[in-house]
Formats: sequence, C-alpha cells, structure tokens
Amino acid sequence: MNTDEKIEALSAVPLFSQVGRKDLERLAMLATERTYASGTDIVSEGEVGVAMFVISDGTVEVVKAEDGKDVKIDELKRGAFFGEMALFENFPRNATVRATSDVTCLALTEWDVHAELRETPAVAIQLLKAMVRRLRTATQELADLKGGGGGGD
Ligand code: CMP
Repeated sequence: MNTDEKIEALSAVPLFSQVGRKDLERLAMLATERTYASGTDIVSEGEVGVAMFVISDGTVEVVKAEDGKDVKIDELKRGAFFGEMALFENFPRNATVRATSDVTCLALTEWDVHAELRETPAVAIQLLKAMVRRLRTATQELADLKGGGGGGD
C-alpha cells in the first residue's frame, strides 16, 4: 500500500472521520501495513500490546478463552479498529482477535495513538464513543446471560 492508499484506507475509518487531510497524511506515514492469512491470531489474549489496528480489508472475530473453549464476542470488518484497550493502563490484551478471512490492517503504535489523541480531541471522542458502544453491548449481553437463565433463543 502506498501513502495515498493508506490515506484512503484511514479516511474510510469512522474513528478518523473528523481528521483533516494533513493529519491523515501524517497518520498514513506512521501506519504500518500488516497482512494476515485467514485463521491467524492478530493479537492474542494475555499478551502485552503496543499497537492498535484498523482493518482496511477483510474480517476478524474477537474471541475470549473460557474453560478451554473460545467464545466469540464480536465480529469486525473493514473500517473497524481493535487492539486499543491494551494501549491504556498497560493491561495485557483483553481478547484474541483472529482473522476470519485474509486481512489487511494498518497498525499504529501506542506512542503515535497517544500523540494523535492529544493533538486531535475529535479522534479521542470518536474512540470513546466506539468504546462506550462496545461496553453497552457487553453490558446488555451480561444482563441477558444473568437474567435470562439461558431459556430463550
Ligand atoms: P486489546 O485488549 O488491546 O486486544 C483485544 C481487543 O479485542 C481489544 O483491545 C478490543 O479492541 C477488542 N475487544 C475486546 N473486548 C471487546 C468487546 N467486548 N467488543 C468488541 N471488541 C472487543
């Protein structure tokens, strides 16, 4: 991917929808293209994480290991991001993110993400919105599990 293609990929990411052309160019220079074959673990639960990823092509699933089994938490596609949680508070990766097709991502280091959030509050707000959306979904699912008794379908 050349810089123009990276800019195009980043501009398709809602997280960066408020970012102007100049900032997108700078981010594109910092972003590293990574490709993964279907079935590959892109990040692994419990590992230390130093980068987050935006998906420029393909699909991934977010899974957590429970009693030796993988439980699917979410599916993400082009335009989504993942790996942001480990960049805050130095916690290890909260889940495994696995490619469910061949995937192309743009990786941004913790350093660059933090600098971007400091410089462009609109990106911080977008990130917060996306994280709150995920928290809301997770809370609802937890309530369904605790309240539903597993009865319905
Ligand atoms: P991180 O903990 O760095 O690595 C695993 C990633 O999976 C995590 O960041 C999030 O990007 C993603 N993730 C974890 N939990 C959820 C969830 N409940 N919904 C969507 N994505 C999640």
